[in-house]
Amino acid sequence: MKLLVTGGAGFIGANLVHHTLATRPQHEVTVIDALTYAANEASLASVRDKITFVQGSITNTELVDKLISETDLVVHFAAESHNDNSLNDPSPFIQTNLVGTYTILEAVRKHGKKLHHISTDEVYGDLELDDPAKFTDQTPYNPSSPYSSTKAGSDLLVRAWVRSFGIHATISNCYNNYGPYQHVEKMIPRQITNILTGIKPKLYGAGQNVRDWIHVDDHNAAVWAIIEKGTSGATYLIGADGEQNNKAVFELILELMGKPVDWYDHVNDRAGHDMRYAIDATKLRNELGWTPQYTNFRDGLQATIDWYADNEAWWKPLKAAVEANYAKRGQ
Ligand code: NAD
Ligand code: TYD
Repeated sequence: MKLLVTGGAGFIGANLVHHTLATRPQHEVTVIDALTYAANEASLASVRDKITFVQGSITNTELVDKLISETDLVVHFAAESHNDNSLNDPSPFIQTNLVGTYTILEAVRKHGKKLHHISTDEVYGDLELDDPAKFTDQTPYNPSSPYSSTKAGSDLLVRAWVRSFGIHATISNCYNNYGPYQHVEKMIPRQITNILTGIKPKLYGAGQNVRDWIHVDDHNAAVWAIIEKGTSGATYLIGADGEQNNKAVFELILELMGKPVDWYDHVNDRAGHDMRYAIDATKLRNELGWTPQYTNFRDGLQATIDWYADNEAWWKPLKAAVEANYAKRGQ
C-alpha cells in the first residue's frame, strides 16, 4: 500500500513513520510537511532513504491533488497543534486545520482514495474535576480554543464528506501524547529540557488541571488498528486511562530527574484553560481489540526523560526562542 503521511516531520507523524517502517515495512511511505517551526527534519533523518519526503503545504491544491492521486491512503496529522500559540495568533490554525483539511478532502473525493483523519479529544471541551463522565464518540462538540475549534471544524468537514460524497474516511480523537520527538513548547518536554538546562519547570496556575496521557507509540498502534479494521465514517476515541493532574506530573518529572519535588515556578495561567480531559476508549478496545503497551506512566516518562537527555542536539537549538516567547507572556 502507498501511504501519504501529512505532517510527518512533526511529533506524532514522525513517530508514525518510524512505527510503520518497523511494523509494516511492506508499505511505501511518502511524507508531505510544510516544515513549519513545529517540524524537525532530524526526526526523520535515520529513515530518509526509506521514504519519499516532499516539502509543501496541505493548502497547496495542485501539490495535494498530485500526491493524493499517487497514493492509496492518506494519514492526516498536519496541523497547527499548540493551544498557547492559537491564543496568540489564530490565523495559521484556520488555514492549515480547516482549509488544509478541506483541500485534502477534495483530492480524496476526486481520486477515490482512503483517509484517516487524526484529531484531538479537545473538540469535546472539558470536564469538571469531579465529573464521573468521560468523553465518548457520542459526546457533543464544545471546543474552547482557536486550536480545538479548528480541529472540531476539520472533523465535521470529514464527517460531511463521508455522508454527502461517500468518501472512505475514519476519524480518531486522542488526548495528550508524550514520547520522543515532541517539540519543547509542549508541557512534558518543556519541563524536562528546563531541568536539563538548569531552569525551573513552569506550572500554569495551581496545576489542578487534569490531562489523560498516552504514549505516542500506543496512539500510533491504535491508528493502525483503525486503518486496518475500522469502519468508514466511524469515530474512534483513543485513550489508555492515564489521568493525572499537572502538579502530579511535575512532581514525578522532578523526582525522576533527582530534584526536590517543589522545585518549580507557578506562572500565569492559560486563558480559557480546559480543566480536565478524559476518554472512554471502550469502543476501540472492544471492536478493534487494541490495548496499550505503555501501562506504567512512570516507566514511559523515564524513557522519555532519557530520550531528551540523550538527544540534546535535537532540541537545544529550539529551546532559547521557545522560552523567550513564553517569558513575554509571563509563562
Ligand atoms: P506537531 O505540531 O508536532 O506537528 C505538526 C506537523 O504538521 C509539523 O511537522 C508541521 O510542519 C506540519 N504542518 C503544519 N502546517 C502544515 C501545512 N500547512 N502543510 C503541511 N504540513 C504542515 O503536532 P503533533 O503533536 O504531532 O500533532 C499531530 C496531529 O495530532 C495534529 O492533527 C493534532 O491535532 C493531533 N493530536 C495531537 C495530540 C498531542 O498530544 N500532541 C493529541 C491529540 C491529537
Ligand atoms: P500542553 O502540552 O500544551 O497540551 P494541551 O494544551 O493540549 O493539553 O499542556 C498540557 C497541560 O500542561 C495543560 O493543562 C497546560 C499545562 N502546561 C503547564 O502547566 N506548563 C507549561 O509550560 C505548558 C506548556 C503547559
